Amino acid sequence: FLLLSLYFPALLLLLCPLWDVSQSLPVTGKGPMTDSCVFYAKTLLSNITDVLTQNQLFTGIDCTKQNVELNMNTNTASVCAPGDSTCSGFTPSQFSQELCLTNIGEDLRYYYQFLAAQPDPDSFLGPTVLLSLKELMENCFSWSLPADSALKKASADHPSTYDERLSLCKVLKGFHVRTITINRAIGFIHSGEDTN
Ligand SMILES: *[C@@H]1O[C@H](CO)[C@@H](O)[C@H](O)[C@H]1NC(C)=O
Repeated sequence: FLLLSLYFPALLLLLCPLWDVSQSLPVTGKGPMTDSCVFYAKTLLSNITDVLTQNQLFTGIDCTKQNVELNMNTNTASVCAPGDSTCSGFTPSQFSQELCLTNIGEDLRYYYQFLAAQPDPDSFLGPTVLLSLKELMENCFSWSLPADSALKKASADHPSTYDERLSLCKVLKGFHVRTITINRAIGFIHSGEDTN
């Protein structure tokens, strides 16, 4: 009986498919989610919401009618759900902060690389979403940007094509949804740190 109760949580971890870490790269959080991390995440969300209303970015496209395209390379929604019952048997104390932060870090990096490569001749993205994204990554996810200048040069300042605008719309909508999840997770981790 003792053995069983010792190994039962580990067994659940093995059996529960949501906890698959095989895709994760070692990008761990810097440490505590501070007040400023909560602030940076909120700023990012509000900048994304704002940029989605900039019709000039989506000329010829009704962005509100497009599908949401989520980053499917991470498991943020499932691993960052505290006390979620999708994976029965898990209590909030078994929520893996590290796994959640690793997935968020990968999301942020994915969206940074995507957005930095978009044509942005009128600077709709650079001083808004990209800037707040960079601040969140650098201050809360130990991320530095070695290839910053290279990335900037790669994004030619040519006017965007229809396909580029369509893709930008869908990906930004996905980023918006994901950033709501990220805000909840960072808020949850932040509040947990307050009570510990
Ligand atoms: C980004 O969002 C923050 C918070 O709402 C706002 O203060 C800031 O002006 C926004 N940045 C830009 C450039 O829109």
